[in-house]
Amino acid sequence: MDALRLKNVGYRYSDGTRALENVNIVIRAGERVSLVGPNGAGKSTLLHMLDSLYLPTEGELEVAGIRVDKKTAPQATMKAGLLFQDPDDQIFMPRVWDDVAFGPINMQLGEEEVRKRVERSMALAGVSEYADRAPHHLSFGEKKRVAIAGLLAMDPDIYLLDEPTANLDPASRRALVDVLRSLDKSIVLATHDLTVAFELTQRVIVLKRTVLYDGDLRGLMARPDILAEANLELPSIPRLMTEWKARSGRGFEVPTTMEEALDLLDRETAPSR
Ligand SMILES: Nc1ncnc2c1ncn2[C@@H]1O[C@H](COP(=O)(O)OP(=O)(O)OP(=O)(O)O)[C@@H](O)[C@H]1O
Ligand SMILES: [Mg+2]
Repeated sequence: MDALRLKNVGYRYSDGTRALENVNIVIRAGERVSLVGPNGAGKSTLLHMLDSLYLPTEGELEVAGIRVDKKTAPQATMKAGLLFQDPDDQIFMPRVWDDVAFGPINMQLGEEEVRKRVERSMALAGVSEYADRAPHHLSFGEKKRVAIAGLLAMDPDIYLLDEPTANLDPASRRALVDVLRSLDKSIVLATHDLTVAFELTQRVIVLKRTVLYDGDLRGLMARPDILAEANLELPSIPRLMTEWKARSGRGFEVPTTMEEALDLLDRETAPSR
């Protein structure tokens, strides 16, 4: 079964703003996809819709095989979990521990299972030490990590992540990428940071009210027109290696990650015997 299916989906806000138009996407169960595009492209709108919080105003949406409408939305929303772009929209309990526990308690899990999930996910998100603090006193990045812990504690089939790494310090960002990589779940990750996209996903969807590109990251690197149209910039490693390839006249495939780049440099610069 596919995780998400969108057919000719559109969304118009009540003030008439048309945020999405004619969106066609299929995401398989277990697939990880990046969603990129300029400010106002409709990324957050789309993620709300995939969590069945907004219903399409045009077209058809299926979440885990459920055709989403007013009646089925409460059931469909259980299949997915949304990390909001702004953690203040997500965190509301007076104590961090209770906030992370809110989802699992709502899922009617037993006390012991709730405790286990909360402790594990707080450790994964690096927020164990804030357990007794008041969320509204935390920094933005700390709040974002608390919200991530809350989502991990619920462990939905489909993770919908709106800018999960924005405002995280570099070590926390890397730790989060490792946690997300280890999950065997469907992930849709909205980001402006193509470095995270390269680290976490093969497939990227470029959105600007409608889908401009849907394919692998390597293919996107070869489309400067789309990168420009979507206000995107390649991360420094592929940018540097593309430039070196052009200057040196070498014929390699441009690496996208640090590991690939190091392997390539070893090969290309090894003294010939
Ligand atoms: N509640 C609302 N009412 C009316 N228009 C809205 C509402 N929320 C968002 N919009 C508009 O819908 C469009 C898409 O917004 P959205 O927040 O989905 O973009 P985004 O791709 O997430 O942008 P960003 O990269 O800045 O987070 C924008 O033009 C925005 O102004
Ligand atoms: Mg957004």
